[in-house]
Amino acid sequence: MLRKIFILIVSLSAAPGRGQLADLLFPRAADSVREMTDSLTRNPFANQPIHFSGDLLGNTLNLLSVLPIAIARTLGGGNGIPSLINNNNLASLGDNFISDYNLGLGNEDCQLRCDQLIAKYGYLVERHDIVTEDGYVLTMFRIPSDGPVVFLQHGLLGSSDDYVIAGPDTGIAYLLAKDGYDVWLGNSRGNKHSRRHVEMDPSQGDYWDFSWHEVGYYDLPAMIDYALNATGQEKLKYIGHSQGTTSFWVMGSERPEYNDKISLMVALSPVAFMSNLKSPIIRLLAPTGGFIHAFVKTIGLHELLPDNNAMKLYRRLLCGAGPPAEILCANLLFLVAGFNVEQLNVTNLPVIYSHVPSGASAKQAAHYGQGVISAKFRQFDYGTAGNLERYGSEQPPDYALENVRAPVSMVYSDADWLADPRDVDELYNKLPNVVDIHKVPHKNFNHLDYVFAKDVKYLIYKRLRKLLSNF
Ligand SMILES: *[C@@H]1O[C@H](CO)[C@@H](O)[C@H](O)[C@H]1NC(C)=O
Ligand SMILES: *[C@@H]1O[C@H](CO)[C@@H](O)[C@H](O)[C@H]1NC(C)=O
Repeated sequence: MLRKIFILIVSLSAAPGRGQLADLLFPRAADSVREMTDSLTRNPFANQPIHFSGDLLGNTLNLLSVLPIAIARTLGGGNGIPSLINNNNLASLGDNFISDYNLGLGNEDCQLRCDQLIAKYGYLVERHDIVTEDGYVLTMFRIPSDGPVVFLQHGLLGSSDDYVIAGPDTGIAYLLAKDGYDVWLGNSRGNKHSRRHVEMDPSQGDYWDFSWHEVGYYDLPAMIDYALNATGQEKLKYIGHSQGTTSFWVMGSERPEYNDKISLMVALSPVAFMSNLKSPIIRLLAPTGGFIHAFVKTIGLHELLPDNNAMKLYRRLLCGAGPPAEILCANLLFLVAGFNVEQLNVTNLPVIYSHVPSGASAKQAAHYGQGVISAKFRQFDYGTAGNLERYGSEQPPDYALENVRAPVSMVYSDADWLADPRDVDELYNKLPNVVDIHKVPHKNFNHLDYVFAKDVKYLIYKRLRKLLSNF
């Protein structure tokens, strides 16, 4: 089997006929993608010989990374590709960038786990393990109090750490705790705090056979039920960032009875429809998502692991060269999701970097990639045969967003690389009970800024605080 795939890859890279490569890789792709792949087969970069040294996995990943980068170049190198770092915003980092960053490297917070950080800053902290209906063991952290429960759910490649590593003055978990809330921090399957299962082990491929669909269908209900039962409360306030919103829409659509357990859902950077997203890496990888998924299933690489050679190229493309670029774009999550230079706390960067990214499955990324191409918010696409078998229809079913009856507050921004305002608008029009929608009053506010920005307290929390007290 491996040999067969190996030969398929070699022949794809060596002599693709015009159009055939597109048909093989992107059977349902739009014409524009087909045109791109046609021209990429003529692009010298893609045709550059690939040397196989015997490391099948390494070589395969190299090849998979060549495709999207060739597409990027075909698109006109730089044309339409936003950059994270340029001379204008670089100036806002100040002259002390490198020394500030180096100062942060000595911070002991880099070494501390989520619960150790919370304890260090003077809060009570509890750890709770929860088993989902399908056997995944999840860890939640809690900053207990007698107040109303607020449940915080992280984004793709994130964890509970996201809400505390900005520090005691900025981290949303601390701001909520200071206001008297009983704060519960979720961790979805596969991230560093939740890599367990009652039977399977993360070293087995089957363990990783999930996307954010399963996070919404199993993990969120299990964690919400647990927090409500433990506190004796009937409803909680849910705050999600990025994938923490996507998985909520899944839960609200597929298990509508859970809407009754939510007094308010706050969507920080709401992600469902993705056809307008700006993140170049996700755009570029999207067409290969299905292919990568089929491929990793066969060779057994299921955890989302970045290919270093590809990342080096992406870094140059999006960040340019020089020491600030090297430092700022060294982190996969920063590079993929986008950040805003003006909102960075440079001395805190080493702490953030040592806690993210936190792990995810390849299928989670592939599911997002499918959404970029299909322009739909729907279940995982297994191909016609697989869909017929699973769903009884050739296409995967759309999520029934009209079922999401919980009151929703949406917070978005123009510059967000993953939640484009046009996509947020489409979601807004489909959700039946949006009680508030708010654009962050900062022009360059990007995807990661919702949790890590210096001014989260003023730009996000100020309004959130009022809203939470009303529901
Ligand atoms: C619900 O909470 C009670 C008391 O805190 C506990 O004894 C019980 O095991 C919990 N049930 C579930 C299903 O978690
Ligand atoms: C920036 O980070 C440092 C180091 O972690 C921290 O002491 C400081 O309070 C942070 N500033 C803000 C505004 O959060």
